[in-house]
Amino acid sequence: MTTTTPNLPVDLFADETLLDPYPAYKRIRDEGPVVWLDVLGCWAVARYDGVRAILEDWETFTSDKGVGLNDDVNNAIQGTLLASSPPLHDQLRGILAEPLSPRGLRTMSMDIKQRALELIEPLIDRRRFDAVTDLARVFPPTIVADLVGIPDAVRSRLIPWADAIFNMMGPPDKARTYATADLVGEQYAWLATVGTRDLAEGSWGRAIYQAAEDGRIRPDQAPTLLSAYTSAAMDTTINVLSSAILLFAEHPEQWDELRADRSLIPSAFNEVLRLESPLQFFTRVATTDVDLLGTPVSAGDRLMVVFASANRDERHWGENAAEFDITRDASDHLAFGYGMHGCVGQGLARMEAHSVFEVLADRVESFHLTGPVERRINSAIRGLDSVPVEVVTIVD
Ligand code: HEM
Repeated sequence: MTTTTPNLPVDLFADETLLDPYPAYKRIRDEGPVVWLDVLGCWAVARYDGVRAILEDWETFTSDKGVGLNDDVNNAIQGTLLASSPPLHDQLRGILAEPLSPRGLRTMSMDIKQRALELIEPLIDRRRFDAVTDLARVFPPTIVADLVGIPDAVRSRLIPWADAIFNMMGPPDKARTYATADLVGEQYAWLATVGTRDLAEGSWGRAIYQAAEDGRIRPDQAPTLLSAYTSAAMDTTINVLSSAILLFAEHPEQWDELRADRSLIPSAFNEVLRLESPLQFFTRVATTDVDLLGTPVSAGDRLMVVFASANRDERHWGENAAEFDITRDASDHLAFGYGMHGCVGQGLARMEAHSVFEVLADRVESFHLTGPVERRINSAIRGLDSVPVEVVTIVD
């Protein structure tokens, strides 16, 4: 371990910090480009340039040793797409990249916009609904479960499982980190039982197991790839949709702008991802002694890569970095990561979110909060449990 200052005594995983992590991120950013956190025994990299520099150099900053903050989760995800390097990484990624590529998504059988209409129109007719429990926690999980061909019997487990694995990314000295270990075990136990015929014919999940039968991957790699869908595609998309509706309720003038100019939808989605990045951080391990932005980092040191802080770095985004502005060009945000491990599912996430925004923009003039917003505390995900809203519709 290198003992260079600065060293900050911030506790990023205290409840109050998780509820509002942004002041702590700013302290780390202002302290320096690479800051040692004694509490965690690792470096924190919280400025935009530093996060991007690490993400684009996978050889010096490896994911091989896991991307969480404790050995248990890091051992559990060994050999998965998320925690591997080439050639294994590229071999695994190739299997998922086929359906998730722009071409794969163009030719997929499901009409996501139609699905958004079917779910959201009745909610708008009701006027009052919860953006989290009625919309965000229903839409992505149903879409992904159908595309991946998940059996009915385990569909209700997908959200708890995804929440559990992200939660377990936390530091070993926090009880919260291990509070969801049983759920992680439950998911792994289920994954170990899955066979080709358990997944619907023609589904993305069946294609993974088919690749194993064809010898393109080893049979034991199929469950880890399946878990990429059941974990990575849930909490992330759910929470960005929840955050979007909350932000539009709090900033009605931004919703007006979007309704007036639908071409702003992609940029609005980027801005929500930037401001309320669902995945707050992952980690990397230095493979060699390296000078990182003037700080000597030793081989074997772990570095926390704080996507959510990079996305609010005033050095990159300007003094109004903390403001929600859908006309801002936020396309180079790091909420999907960057480089080799950059989110393979971002095309699907964009399709889902754009469809939701389009359907809402057709009918909703404004969102009004009707009760308290409840945040969900998770070690790695910026989440919400409840965003109760009433909508004023355009014909009102
Ligand atoms: C708004 C929604 C999403 C967000 C914010 C998000 C965020 C991220 C981030 C930050 C990474 C980079 C991890 C790293 O650098 O270590 C990542 C990777 C990944 N994401 Fe997503 N994700 C989202 C949706 C999805 C969806 C819908 C899927 C699947 C259909 C998915 C599958 C994956 C996979 C498999 C990886 C690992 C890629 C690799 O290691 O090469 N994600 N995601």
